[in-house]
Amino acid sequence: MILVTGGAGYIGSHVCALLLAMGREVVIADDLSNSGADAVERLEKITGRRPLFCRGDVRDTGFITGVARTYRPECTLHFAGLKAVGESVRRPLAYYDVNVGGTVTLLRALRRYGGRRFVFSSSATVYAPSEVMPLTEESPLGPYNPYGWTKFMAERALLDLVAAEADWRVALLRYFNPVGAHPSGLLGENPRGTPNNLMPRLCDAAAGVTPRLSVFGLDYPTRDGSGVRDYLHVTDLALGHIRAMELLETSAGAHIYNLGTGVGLSVLEMIAAFQAATGIAAPYEVCPRRPGDLAAYYSSPAKAEREMGWKAEKTPADMCGDAWAFYKKSFI
Ligand code: NAD
Ligand code: UFG
Repeated sequence: MILVTGGAGYIGSHVCALLLAMGREVVIADDLSNSGADAVERLEKITGRRPLFCRGDVRDTGFITGVARTYRPECTLHFAGLKAVGESVRRPLAYYDVNVGGTVTLLRALRRYGGRRFVFSSSATVYAPSEVMPLTEESPLGPYNPYGWTKFMAERALLDLVAAEADWRVALLRYFNPVGAHPSGLLGENPRGTPNNLMPRLCDAAAGVTPRLSVFGLDYPTRDGSGVRDYLHVTDLALGHIRAMELLETSAGAHIYNLGTGVGLSVLEMIAAFQAATGIAAPYEVCPRRPGDLAAYYSSPAKAEREMGWKAEKTPADMCGDAWAFYKKSFI
């Protein structure tokens, strides 16, 4: 049995789709604070198999211990967490509580009843701002917002646990910028409230839901002046979790991997890729920089390829085309 916390959410649901298609037994633990219970039906529609679902909060010791005791997962993939950088500045305690406290509570429950293989959703925000690119797993750490610090601390707790108790096997996966949606159009990013990220906002502008996309800054020291990020398709990212899970079947200890394409794309390049993929020229306007944004960062994914045989395959056209197909099906 594989336990997927946050499995009703954007990235977790894509991983569940792969696990179910592989014939694995899956139990999702999710409080639905940022997702809907219909994820279970959608997964059944895609794969023909229905995951088990337990609604509850990973911070609730009684709930999560009950899940671990009932299902005795041999491996846990931990996606449940809060993820908005701006909100983490305004509500730091909520972020430390869920992302650090929730992880510790979950680990205690697994320590008692579950298997000791654990795959953790970390983030490129654990790295210190730098002009040296690409970022490798050895690049200096030093988050610049509370969200990044919560991921840094949860990583640290996991590394210390592995050092103290040799039977734990842990993969820390540092995601760059996941975008896109399941090719079926049934799973995708469905943010509650106003979206913050580029791709959902690009879709809003393309659909006319907002008059135009704000391009936050055209005065960065980049190719065209707009911000550069390493966007990767969510199904490629999901596959990285399967490879990490497989690696932990044979490798002890802690393993850290960047999951990205290794290619930086600017905001203007993403707008152009969106137009090429969908035929829609999303209107945009140049606005001041967004506070807290960095000019450019992208990964070196070489270690993940070398050690896990994982490499992102999908193109920006796939990312934009699939994001738009999901958006049209869900919101128009
Ligand atoms: P998401 O919000 O779509 O999914 C998270 C899921 O966890 C949701 O279904 C939510 O209901 C659930 N959840 C939240 N708090 C919970 C709690 N206390 N108990 C139980 N369930 C809870 O987010 P996502 O984009 O799928 O991100 C998944 C993970 O990946 C998060 O940990 C996030 O920090 C990390 N991550 C995401 C990105 C990104 O850009 N999407 C980048 C780097 C890392
Ligand atoms: N951008 C715009 N207009 C928008 C939204 C974004 O120009 O309306 C630009 C940003 O300035 C940035 C780029 O698009 O240059 C990407 O911005 P996102 O908000 O999509 O993503 P971020 O790189 O700021 O952060 C994302 C996630 C974080 C995660 C981080 C990891 O939101 O949770 O990637 O790399 F930690």
